[in-house]
Amino acid sequence: MTSPPATILIVDDEIQNHKLLEVLLRHEGYLTLSAANGEEALALIAQRAPDLILLDIVMPGMDGYQVASILKANPATSNIPIIMLTAQIDRSARLTGLNAGVEEFLTKPVDGAELRLRVRNLLRLKEFGDFLQNHSRILEQQVQARTAALTAEIAERKHAEKRFHTLFEFAPDAVVMIDQLGIIALVNRQAETVFGYQRDELLGQRLEILMPEAFRLAHADLRQGFLKNAMPRAMGLDRSDLLGLRKDGTVFPVDISLSPMESENGIMVAAAVRDMTELKRKEEALRGYATRLRELSHRLRTVEETERRAISRELHDRIGQELSTLGLILGSLGAKLPRESLRAVHKPLQDMQGLLKSMVANVRDVMAELRPPVLDDYGLLAALRQLVTEFAKRSGIAAEMSGVELLPRLPSIVETAMYRISQEALNNIVKHAQAKKVEISLYTAPDRVVLDITDDGIGFDANETPPDQQHWGLITMRERAEAVGVVFHLESATGAGTRIVLEAERAAT
Ligand SMILES: Nc1ncnc2c1ncn2[C@@H]1O[C@H](COP(=O)(O)OP(=O)(O)OP(=O)(O)O)[C@@H](O)[C@H]1O
Ligand SMILES: [Mg+2]
Repeated sequence: MTSPPATILIVDDEIQNHKLLEVLLRHEGYLTLSAANGEEALALIAQRAPDLILLDIVMPGMDGYQVASILKANPATSNIPIIMLTAQIDRSARLTGLNAGVEEFLTKPVDGAELRLRVRNLLRLKEFGDFLQNHSRILEQQVQARTAALTAEIAERKHAEKRFHTLFEFAPDAVVMIDQLGIIALVNRQAETVFGYQRDELLGQRLEILMPEAFRLAHADLRQGFLKNAMPRAMGLDRSDLLGLRKDGTVFPVDISLSPMESENGIMVAAAVRDMTELKRKEEALRGYATRLRELSHRLRTVEETERRAISRELHDRIGQELSTLGLILGSLGAKLPRESLRAVHKPLQDMQGLLKSMVANVRDVMAELRPPVLDDYGLLAALRQLVTEFAKRSGIAAEMSGVELLPRLPSIVETAMYRISQEALNNIVKHAQAKKVEISLYTAPDRVVLDITDDGIGFDANETPPDQQHWGLITMRERAEAVGVVFHLESATGAGTRIVLEAERAAT
């Protein structure tokens, strides 16, 4: 790389000297500037700093020493090398020059070769000095920039630390931070509240003091295991056996999630502990409500069945009996009347008998609807056969019933539940399925009785609950089954028909 030619300022009041120096220097390829006295030289330098100055001592006005002192005292010009031109070998002049900061001396008249060498050496030195200065300036800038960045980083860290601390301190969960040995290093306010300790009582203690005694031994191993593969995870999901121990000795259910954290002392683990007492209590209360509701609906159905059976029996025993008696009376009435009178009442008497017959049939229908006597008298298979025959007649859908007699019979409540579920399933087929065919089969396996009702209709997505709440059939079927220990399966898919399977346990035969 060729650097631009150096600029040399000649400061001399003697024209002859001046010219000579100019010629010598230009010959060497340098650029030259001229000043006839000190003031002019300083003005020129202020405008444009040369790379080197040749400075005469004796000049009108300011002398060379003064000029040199001013230049060397100013940091902007102090690194410009100065060669002082002395008239003779004058020790005191040189000392004064050196004192003013002058770098070199040349004796007048100037020797060309010496001038060349001195100028070249000094320029090299200056170049090197400039390089060093430049380099150190760059370094300084870099140091400054890095220092500023570090200061900003430290400020940001402090800020983050403060944020973390606030978050940690006011977290809604109790947070306990432990080191690799399981010693508590940090706790937040909620930890004090939840466990009933003062902060100082916890710091430095083993984590195990916060759990019931029975858990402590196993916990050390669990902790080691966690550290070997430290990843954030929740401990409490699907677990109801996680318990915390308060200072007052009370035990309470907790949910715990663990987060490993790097620190200068190795991995620390933050355990966020949530007191689940209230949630568990609500869960239990909800479960209790659900159970009571289920029991209530079961009881309602039992009462309903009993009432139906009672009304059906009343109809049979009272109305049925009396209608039969009425029939007998009407029949004997004809025989008892004289012929002339009989002719007059023959028609109304016949009408009455017809009406009585239809009343008997109606009463029987109502009885069957309330509670088919065949279910009580002949059992599930017979009752289902009657139901399926009625269904096919009423709906026009082909229905096939196959089955075996169950001996011994199932308990009455199970028979009733299976019969009512079948009724509901057949109602749904009429209402929704658009089926061509229904197959109903009742069969036995060694320890079970299975009832299968399959239609070939449009089916539906069994996972999708209908948007409105007006669908009780399927819910009731399932409830009915489960209330008497019968397993209820439903299989259905759009376009693929619907199948309902009931499985009742029975003693192995
Ligand atoms: N066999 C079936 N074929 C096709 N769709 C069915 C069948 N059974 C039930 N569904 C569908 O499932 C829904 C829910 O049935 P569910 O018996 O619970 O209620 P519902 O019959 O609509 O009303 P409810 O029985 O309370 O009078 C029905 O609306 C219907 O869309
Ligand atoms: Mg229904």
